[in-house]
Amino acid sequence: MATSSSFIAIVSLALLLGSVNAQLSTNFYSSSCPKLFSTVKSTVQSAISKEARMGASLLRLFFHDCFVNGCDGSILLDDTSNFIGEKNAVPNKNSARGFDVVDNIKSAVEKACPGVVSCADILAVASRDSVAILGGPSWNVKLGRRDARTASQAAANNSIPPPTSNLNQLISRFNNLGLSTRDMVALAGSHTIGQARCTSFRARIYNETNIDSSFANTRRSNCPRTSGSGDNNLAPLDIQTPTKFENNYYKNLLQNRGLLHSDQQLFNGGSTDSIVRTYSNSESTFNSDFAAAMIKMGDISPLTGSNGEVRKNCRKVN
Ligand code: HEM
Ligand SMILES: *[C@@H]1O[C@H](CO)[C@@H](O)[C@H](O)[C@H]1NC(C)=O
Ligand SMILES: *[C@@H]1O[C@H](CO)[C@@H](O)[C@H](O)[C@H]1NC(C)=O
Repeated sequence: MATSSSFIAIVSLALLLGSVNAQLSTNFYSSSCPKLFSTVKSTVQSAISKEARMGASLLRLFFHDCFVNGCDGSILLDDTSNFIGEKNAVPNKNSARGFDVVDNIKSAVEKACPGVVSCADILAVASRDSVAILGGPSWNVKLGRRDARTASQAAANNSIPPPTSNLNQLISRFNNLGLSTRDMVALAGSHTIGQARCTSFRARIYNETNIDSSFANTRRSNCPRTSGSGDNNLAPLDIQTPTKFENNYYKNLLQNRGLLHSDQQLFNGGSTDSIVRTYSNSESTFNSDFAAAMIKMGDISPLTGSNGEVRKNCRKVN
């Protein structure tokens, strides 16, 4: 009797631990790395103090990580002579940045608690801190992701939406990963910070009609019409306040001042117009939907338990 009930107790405990392990939790490192949050925040803060754009770049890395086979740190792996990673995939090449800052965060975290915190989780925390430092909402980040031992350039090419996407394509890229249309519109509000290259918006400013003409002229001044010249010249995604995280992105869309073709698709007479109006009128609705959608994006197929590994160096597998 005693033996069988303790057997049952052990089995239930194992099942419980198994199920707890299989999902993310906000207190995952509370005993194994109590200084995690303060360590990440201070490193992110000093990077943003040096260059305000870095907050945008870190946030984008998390998005580009999560959209390619889940939030597993795959975007951080360097290419080598016998390994093709994601850094040179179309959406990332000459564009994704902030890898040195991720290295700095990882070093500081390794010093505090060696071998404990995954690179995938570091991206999740650094994104939250970036948004909060730039004036946006904060949220409790779920943790416990482990790092992939693989990456997929093909999946990065095919899963991250290009700026040429129309509304239906945007909706389906997000729906494919369990994110709703409303989540998509909220997450796109990330374009209230950061910069884009001329090559990402050239066709829009020269060829599209649903664009404010004085805005188009302003952007043309630093983005030549001819492809190949000035491709990497930068322009702010939010013409008003590119280093402040608020709802100006949506206010711009109401005035046909979306920089990317994909941005203006969210307010172009289609099904998402009403969501854009809501967010432009209510910063608090935007903030709470954005935070919820970030948590949801962070839940995309993480590696947990004994799957994957905790990388020592975010750039290479152990
Ligand atoms: C809705 C579909 C989206 C499309 C088509 C898209 C596309 C782009 C493009 C083309 C750029 C400029 C890249 C360059 O020219 O180098 C960019 C920048 C950026 N994106 Fe998105 N994006 C989308 C959604 C998101 C989401 C969901 C997030 C974050 C949750 C995000 C965060 C950012 C940030 C912060 C930047 C600026 C990065 C920097 O300054 O370094 N984007 N995006
Ligand atoms: C990703 O796209 C680029 C540009 O089209 C291409 O050169 C590369 O081979 C693609 N990668 C894979 C693995 O399909
Ligand atoms: C504008 O559209 C025309 C006609 O489709 C095309 O030939 C041209 O390359 C486009 N220009 C830009 C800057 O995309």
